[in-house]
Amino acid sequence: MAFSDTFLDELAARCDIYEIVSRYVTLKKSGSNWFGLCPFHTEKTGSFSVNTEKQIYHCFGCGAGGSVYNFIMQIENLTFPEAVEFLANLAGVPLPAQDAGVSDNRKRLLELNRDAARFFYQTLSSPEGRVGYEYLLGRGLKPGTIKRYGLGFAPDSWDSLLNAMTEKGYTKSELRELGLIKPNQRGGFYDQFRNRVMFPIIDIRGNVIAFGGRVMDDSKPKYLNSPETKLFSKSRNLFSLNFAKKSASRRLILAEGYMDVIALNQAGFTEAVASLGTALTQEQAKLMKRFADEVVISYDADNAGQNAAARAAEILKPADLKVRILKIPGAKDPDEFIREHGREAFSALLERSEDHMEFTLERIRNNFDLTTDEGRVGFLKEAAKALARLSSPIEREIYASRAAESGNVGKDALLSEIERNRRAYLRRVKNEETRRLLSPEKSVQPVSRALRYEDVRTARAEEGIIALLSREPAFAQTLQAAGIGPEDFTSPFLKKICAFLLEQAQAGNSVSSGALSQFLAPEEMSELGRILSAPDMGDHQSAGRDYIRIIQETQAKHAVASGEDPLLAMRDLHKEKKSYGGSLS
Ligand code: GTP
Ligand code: MN
Repeated sequence: MAFSDTFLDELAARCDIYEIVSRYVTLKKSGSNWFGLCPFHTEKTGSFSVNTEKQIYHCFGCGAGGSVYNFIMQIENLTFPEAVEFLANLAGVPLPAQDAGVSDNRKRLLELNRDAARFFYQTLSSPEGRVGYEYLLGRGLKPGTIKRYGLGFAPDSWDSLLNAMTEKGYTKSELRELGLIKPNQRGGFYDQFRNRVMFPIIDIRGNVIAFGGRVMDDSKPKYLNSPETKLFSKSRNLFSLNFAKKSASRRLILAEGYMDVIALNQAGFTEAVASLGTALTQEQAKLMKRFADEVVISYDADNAGQNAAARAAEILKPADLKVRILKIPGAKDPDEFIREHGREAFSALLERSEDHMEFTLERIRNNFDLTTDEGRVGFLKEAAKALARLSSPIEREIYASRAAESGNVGKDALLSEIERNRRAYLRRVKNEETRRLLSPEKSVQPVSRALRYEDVRTARAEEGIIALLSREPAFAQTLQAAGIGPEDFTSPFLKKICAFLLEQAQAGNSVSSGALSQFLAPEEMSELGRILSAPDMGDHQSAGRDYIRIIQETQAKHAVASGEDPLLAMRDLHKEKKSYGGSLS
């Protein structure tokens, strides 16, 4: 099932990490590394680094990192075998025969989801699904729209899907992995989606990756969505982007719900997508930027919806997207508005939709009584703060004029207040980024909770040993002489890396981060990226001695704790230290 280390190394050698990353990120040389703006989080100063010597990348801001394989997995949203396939295609290297079919498990799961979607779709047009069909028609959907979205119906039964899918040869564990069935208390399983109309969620490659199911009355929960699975990450997908990406307009309409998007589509606004009921994420913003330069947020008209719109705008702006916010008069959401007033009316709303700043200024204006001096001062101060975030001086000037008018002061006074706020804002942004980079908490503990060190001091020494081994494979002999091996490591994933590096050193191979990405999880590779990106302090011998001493001290401490004679343990420690010191000189 796995690729050979040799194949992975050869492929990685042809896919230089600098070349590959440059396709997505603008890199500038600084010292021995390349730096750029991290594609995985939003930042103003470049903390994303690429090291061509080690062929790794690492972001000092968000902790992302690893080999060229990990980079492709992360940026293209692929599994490891898919990333290998992707790079092999790019480099024109054929995949080794025995390696074809590595992504079988994923392919099977995708097929299962597709078959489940087919089952729901067929049920919708069967007598059993009549209620669902009527419900959708009742909500104004045309048969063509139902078909276009592949909407379906999950029968009111505990095992319809379970039986249909196991008959097709899928296992319960596969069904369970996709969240389609759940275990009951008697050791059996039942269908997760029952008596609901079903919305398949399809990614930009056309794969069915998840489902949403809606009840047909007022019972709760209104919607049930697939859990996070191997195929589905809620924060990285948008409903209907598979259609919206084809629109030529470089504009997207962002709505809250399935029904809004489908109604918009039916009315001809195929550029509509939805964030699936959760707060918008930076990943979704970056995804949108691939297909659009402008996003019109069209959330529900209620307070909750408008607050969510303001928050979504803050996520979209840093992704370099122009943001406008549409307000729906006299209706709850876009779906309802279109049903009542038609497509022309929505088109007019779209044209009139306010840009983000107008929207923000109006929200601020509503909080103050502009007939009093006090209210005007409050409004102008808040407005200056908001306008200070605009990066374009032209925009600042234009909106300053408007705000100054509302506040009844001269534009220049307001502008100088804005500039003062802007300097403070830029300082704050910069400090925040610096703090994040330098925060000791961040630099001593792995980002992923599952990998957190129990004994930070010892784990740091273990990290040091791994960095040394990758710089100087000959350090393996020093370790051996000191009687230290992977079994002495306290952190399980550092232990794995150490064992791998020692094996490579023994076989006389050079160390490759490419082969490592196969048997380390992406989070583990990120940590390795961090460890290998630490600056080389020189004086490897004395650093090595310190690391070994720390590990031995920890062992002695543990020996004491487990009831061994403390004096004996300490004596052994000193003996080892001496012989080690001797072997170095
Ligand atoms: P309709 O009532 O069918 O028009 O739904 P809507 O799309 O207008 O839904 P609403 O504005 O209430 O919610 C927006 C989105 O949030 C929905 O499309 C769902 O994705 C999600 N959502 C709403 N209710 C629930 C719920 O009870 N559970 C979960 N997990 N998601 C929900
Ligand atoms: Mn609705």
